[in-house]
Formats: sequence, C-alpha cells, structure tokens
Amino acid sequence: MEKLIIQGNHPLNGEIKISGAKNATLPILAASLLSEAPIQVSNIPHLQDVTTIVSLLGQIGVNITLDERTNIEINAKELCSFHAPYELVRTMRASILVLGPLLSRLGEAEVSLPGGCAIGTRPVDQHLKGLQAMGAEIQIEKGYIKAKAKRLRGASIVMDIVTVTGTENIMMAATLAKGQTIIHNAAREPEVTDLANFLNTLGAKIKGAGTSTIIIDGVDHLTGGSYHVLPDRIETGTYLAAAAITRGKIKLKNTRPDLLESVLLKLEEAGAFIDTGTDWVSLDMKGQRPRAVNVSTAPFPAFPTDMQAQMMALNTVAEGSGVITETVFENRFMHVQELQRMGANIALKGNTAICMGIDNLHGAPVMATDLRASASLVLAGLAAHGETTINRIYHIDRGYECIEEKLAQLGARIHRMPEGN
Ligand code: UD1
Repeated sequence: MEKLIIQGNHPLNGEIKISGAKNATLPILAASLLSEAPIQVSNIPHLQDVTTIVSLLGQIGVNITLDERTNIEINAKELCSFHAPYELVRTMRASILVLGPLLSRLGEAEVSLPGGCAIGTRPVDQHLKGLQAMGAEIQIEKGYIKAKAKRLRGASIVMDIVTVTGTENIMMAATLAKGQTIIHNAAREPEVTDLANFLNTLGAKIKGAGTSTIIIDGVDHLTGGSYHVLPDRIETGTYLAAAAITRGKIKLKNTRPDLLESVLLKLEEAGAFIDTGTDWVSLDMKGQRPRAVNVSTAPFPAFPTDMQAQMMALNTVAEGSGVITETVFENRFMHVQELQRMGANIALKGNTAICMGIDNLHGAPVMATDLRASASLVLAGLAAHGETTINRIYHIDRGYECIEEKLAQLGARIHRMPEGN
C-alpha cells in the first residue's frame, strides 16, 4: 500500500490553489440523475470519492466524460438501472445520495445500506423518513433500501437532527415531486446551498437554501446547464492549519474565506495573522508557536467536525492546553491514539479531548484511519522532528487532491512511496 513520508519541522511558505469542494461535487453529480438533458460541471476535484460516484453513475447508465482538467460532461438521458450495489456504497457512504434522485426520476431505487464507518454508526433514518413523508414505500431487504413511488408528492418534513446528506437527498427528491416540500431544521452547510444553486440552474424551484427552512416547488422536468462547483472550505482550513502548526506563512487562492469564518476565528485565537479577499486567504504565524484553543464542533455555521482532527493536531504543539468537544459524530477521535504515538499529550473523556501542548512531536510510523484523521497526521508529521510515515493513505486520496504536490509547493519535505516499498 502507498505511504506518505514526511521530514518534519520546516515552516510552510508559498501559494497554492484550492480545489473544488468534494462535499458539493458528490451531491451535484448525484443530482445530475434528475435531468435528461446534457449538463457540464467545472471545478471538479480529482479525488477517489469522485471516481467512486462517477463509477456508480456509470453503472446506472449515465454517460460521463471527464477531461484532463476539472470539467465533466454528463448525460443521464437513458438510465439502465436503479441499483447502487454494496461493493460501491461500502467504499463511500455518500453513495446514499443517489437514493432521492433515482426514486424521483425512475419511481424506484435500490441502494445498499451504508452500514457503520470508522467515525460512528451514521444511520440514514432521516433520509428514509423524509422520503416516506413524500409517499415513498420503503423496505429494508437483505441489506438494501428498496424504495418505490409512482410520483413523489410534496410534504412538510421536520428533520429530527441536522443532517447534510439527509437534507440534500430530500431536496433532490422534492425537485421533481408533485407540489411543495418544506424541509424544516435543514442543514445550512454551504454545500447544501451549492446543490440548490446547481438545481436552480437546471430549472428547479428551491428557496431558502443556507437557512434552516428550505422550500421546494416541484417541477415536471429539469433542463441542462453549466455549473461551477464552489471551493473546498475544508481543504482550505486544512492547509491553513498546516501553515499554523509549522509556524509558516501561506496564501491560498481560488477559495471562499467567507465560508469558513468559525475556523478563521479559531486560527486567529491561536495566534495566526489572517488576511482575506473575496477569493483568497493568507495566514502568517510570524514564526511564533500557536496557542492552544478550545473547540466544540456543531453544524454550520459553527466549527465543522471535518476540521476537528486538524485543530487537535495544532493543539498538540501549542502553548497551553485546549479542550476539543465533538458533538456531531460519536466516535471521531481515531486520530488521538496515532497522535499519541508521536508524543502528543491528549486525555480522552467521552466526547471530549483535553490536549496539553508539548514543545515538539517526534516523527513515527502512523496509520490513517479516516479522511480527516489522516489530514491531522499529515499536519502532525509536518511539525514533528524527524521522519513520519503515514500508512493507509487511500483515506487521504478520498478527499485531498494531490496533497503531497500541494504541500511540496509550499516547501514541505514530503513524498509518496509507491506500493510494495
Ligand atoms: C456530511 C459530510 C461529512 C461531514 C458531515 C457533518 C458529505 C458527503 N459528507 O456527512 O464530510 O462530516 O456531513 O458535517 O457531505 N444522522 C442520523 N440519521 C440520519 C442522518 C444522520 O442520526 O439519517 C446523524 C449522523 O450519524 C451524525 C449526524 O447525524 O451523527 C450528522 O450527520 P450528517 O450531517 O448526516 O453527515 P453526512 O451527511 O453523512
């Protein structure tokens, strides 16, 4: 299996471009199932998760052409299947995003239940409850969600908890439903808004995305169109944290700093000097050690759970102690044990991690366990004295485009060791 090798303790310095958002690309590609007309999407990141959804859509009959750059052409005129098999869904939970669109477009969908994952049980009950409220008949058989509905009808749906892909699934399904759907307690993440903007470009009638009440007036069909995916705020935050942990100075272009205020405020609290423009953000530690910060994760606009592990890495070498509380996923501290192998002083109590900053981490062989946990190990490796080897990096490739190339562009001493070495 491939590994990343990092020689740490060098400040990052320089400029890089941020890629399109993974968590916007996945629902947007799934939503293309709703239209019979050609669609072009640009700013698509080259990621393993994108390859997975492209394979899934290909099996369903969608014609997809990807170019060398970041553009994709999609034609979902003739679909040949409503089945999302276990083999693909188990590699990426977000495959559940095809459930709403398939059901709405074909009146039938069979999607493998995603099951558990490293960061928690992650049920999909809210997705199913919403679709049932719209008239779908749903059965769970042999590990599959089997859903049927002649034509979904609009409904008023109150989500019991804030769920990002749950909101997206229902929003997509409601686009072609008969009548009006109102989603109460909807997720407000920018990627939900990006999906709504994409669907509206194709003629959908969605209002209120970005607030907790989304109103969708169903239409009979969608048209084709072109769309540019928004930048990845988590990739942006990860590189900023990487600069902060190495006491460096970087500028990130092609991004949207307005989408990550909660993260920028925490980095400032940690001692970073941050400057922003509409499509760029820069961070300068002026060579200083970061200060430890307290963080509590929650749905947008609060601090994102997808940045929790990276802030934990920062706290490990910061001055003072910081408390991190994870409220979104019940088991998202898999990185703690690996950080401890590098010398970090972290105590875990339930959903809280108390981290006493130490002067230096030391390089060690570590294991990536999930996507964002892997990012935190890369950050720790960049700051650590000596060599860090990160194993199982396929997790990183799911969500970070060319991570070693981008970090090398910022002066990091990092390389990928191919399989078999
Ligand atoms: C999305 C993001 C992921 C991010 C997460 C939280 C994508 C592709 N992934 O994941 O990167 O970490 O939001 O910001 O966009 N839950 C239920 N029942 C449900 C659905 C969710 O109990 O039907 C629970 C989950 O177990 C979790 C919480 O709700 O505890 C939030 O999960 P959710 O927002 O659904 O996460 P995802 O959409 O899977």
